[in-house]
Amino acid sequence: MTAAEPYAASAPAVGAADIGAWAYFEGAVVPIGDARVSIATHSFNYGTAVFEGIRAYRQADGSSSILFAREHYERMLRNARLVRASVPESAVELVEVTRDLLRRNAHDGDAYIRPLVYKSARSIRVKLTGLDDRIGIFTMPLGDYLPTGGIRLTVSGWQRVNDNAIPARGKISGSYVNAAFAAEDAHAAGYDDAILLTGDGHVAEASAANLFVVAGREVATPPLTDDVLAGITRSAIMLIAADAGLEVVERRIDRSELYLADEVFLTGTGVQVAPASSIDDRPVGTGEFPISLDIQRRYFAAVRGSDERYAHWLTPI
Ligand SMILES: Cc1ncc(COP(=O)(O)O)c(C=O)c1O
Repeated sequence: MTAAEPYAASAPAVGAADIGAWAYFEGAVVPIGDARVSIATHSFNYGTAVFEGIRAYRQADGSSSILFAREHYERMLRNARLVRASVPESAVELVEVTRDLLRRNAHDGDAYIRPLVYKSARSIRVKLTGLDDRIGIFTMPLGDYLPTGGIRLTVSGWQRVNDNAIPARGKISGSYVNAAFAAEDAHAAGYDDAILLTGDGHVAEASAANLFVVAGREVATPPLTDDVLAGITRSAIMLIAADAGLEVVERRIDRSELYLADEVFLTGTGVQVAPASSIDDRPVGTGEFPISLDIQRRYFAAVRGSDERYAHWLTPI
């Protein structure tokens, strides 16, 4: 690359065309093109940020609502303490900012909201304090992140990042290199996603989703102490499964249980509820997943405002 052949300054990033026209950037709503950071930004260099992924769903009546808006912002502000960041905005204020952004950006159909708390100082110091913490939020349209009718999973050779290395529960930007290693290898081998194990070989979670194993009427998911994100969808699904009369337990899960289970499914804001059809090319159970599909149906009814019991999960925009 010579000075005569610069990168095209205006080349859009993949998917950038879809990103909403307005963003929240350093305390104000600005055109997305003005929400820029320097290449010397601390978080860009070292991954010293925490983020969230939130969805807004088109409702049965044609309006739009944000799912678990306050819960996501409360988790992000709590996790910010891990990277010693604090920002003046409260969770309630950030929900209002997000409603405003979604109204302005007016995406067709369902939308995804990406807030992050990052260290905006231009600094190469490897540290956490004194680096100016800021919040950015952008939004985009988003359909299904993974197929919801049966996915092919594989157990990754990459270990889930350990709580004493980078806490998985923190949703820390830098830790997603671990998830990207696993997802990349899984995709290259023809799978939809990877399952990561803890350092001592127990099931943790998928690259960007929590995992449940169904055996009979038991629906089990790894405990939060097994290097998983405390998924907001995970909690919602535990409630839905209990409401459906299933026995919900948090316990350690062995790798071999994945191959012997009746059903396995992933949960997350992005993946929603995604049953697995196979794991490491072994069909899961009978190849049908009636319990996963029942939970999925109940979840979609809840997020689209068709089940009054869960109406408090939704914030109209
Ligand atoms: C590693 C990881 N686990 C689990 C989840 C699911 O969390 P939530 O249900 O809060 O979206 C996510 C994010 O979607 C994630 O990135």
